[in-house]
Amino acid sequence: MPEASPLLAVTEARVTYRRGGRVNHAVRGVDFVLGEGEILGLVGESGCGKSSLARALAGLEALSGGDIQFCGTSVTGLAGRHRRDYGRLVQMVFQDPSGSLNPRMTLAQTLGEVLTVHGIVSRAGAPAGVAALLERVELPAGLASRYPHELSGGQRQRVGLARALALSPRVILADEPVSALDVSVQVQILNLMRELRDREGIAFLFIAHDLAAVNYLCDRTLVMYAGRMVEEARGQDLWRAPAHPYTALLRASIPEMARRSASPPPSGPPSHGAAPLSGAGTAGLHHCPFQPRCPRATRACCESEPALASVGPGRRSACFFAMEQLQDTLDDG
Ligand SMILES: Nc1ncnc2c1ncn2[C@@H]1O[C@H](COP(=O)(O)OP(=O)(O)OP(=O)(O)O)[C@@H](O)[C@H]1O
Ligand SMILES: [Mg+2]
Repeated sequence: MPEASPLLAVTEARVTYRRGGRVNHAVRGVDFVLGEGEILGLVGESGCGKSSLARALAGLEALSGGDIQFCGTSVTGLAGRHRRDYGRLVQMVFQDPSGSLNPRMTLAQTLGEVLTVHGIVSRAGAPAGVAALLERVELPAGLASRYPHELSGGQRQRVGLARALALSPRVILADEPVSALDVSVQVQILNLMRELRDREGIAFLFIAHDLAAVNYLCDRTLVMYAGRMVEEARGQDLWRAPAHPYTALLRASIPEMARRSASPPPSGPPSHGAAPLSGAGTAGLHHCPFQPRCPRATRACCESEPALASVGPGRRSACFFAMEQLQDTLDDG
């Protein structure tokens, strides 16, 4: 079955930071698509390049290589009105929405300003526009007169989503939107994102550390390691049977999932700094980036970097031993 038609298509995307003579290859050539109305998860440990990739997709960071296409058109060289349109259609939501909320403005003022500045409603139409936005994120209309500090964390994140929704985006890049919230509130925000997808067809890139949240929400998930995509899978396939040793290690870190698996716990992450958390200094590698931590690593893994290759329907893995990894986890399950 073909994937939903791609809304975003990313090819060989690279993000490189240059600072004081130091070069950091945060994203080292990643390929993936985000389908229309799809919720795509992106996981991987701190520093692997998730936010850098999201910022590049939002146009907040320039690509140092590769391309991003939106509905079939390259956005890399967009200028003027086309650039602004793209900036409107692809919105970003952050872990802490306070950064995009003025503490001295009420919600009505903040959201009203977004709507009027972008010409979405007239000044006279602003209150109705604000009320409609609050309804879309399931907040009571009465909150419009409140200031950000008068809201709970969950309410503030709903306002963060409302602010993004004001511009009628096709895609929301949600960078750890629930990481700072209480668990009971997290699930409400996850459900809201799913409803926005179901009701309005908005696609999401959902970045998270919490694999249970990704498992709960996402149609498909990408696993990133040291600036590269190392695995991609649909639905819960990723957790049912990882096809990359790094995903297996991530899975083992979820207590409930670890219990279901009979496999021995992989050797824990090395002491801080021992692993190449990003591809700093090397655009291309001559070994698998995960090899220093990998229980399966052989000589081949030290000599070349495995490409992200198909290992089944909707399934890709960047491991020379993907099939063996899959078979082992299936045997254990
Ligand atoms: N503005 C920046 N300038 C220079 N280096 C940066 C910048 N932002 C990120 N980096 C570096 O790029 C690499 C990837 O960082 P990034 O924030 O994209 O990772 P992440 O996966 O989002 O991590 P986390 O889970 O902690 O949010 C890291 O080595 C980081 O130090
Ligand atoms: Mg980040």
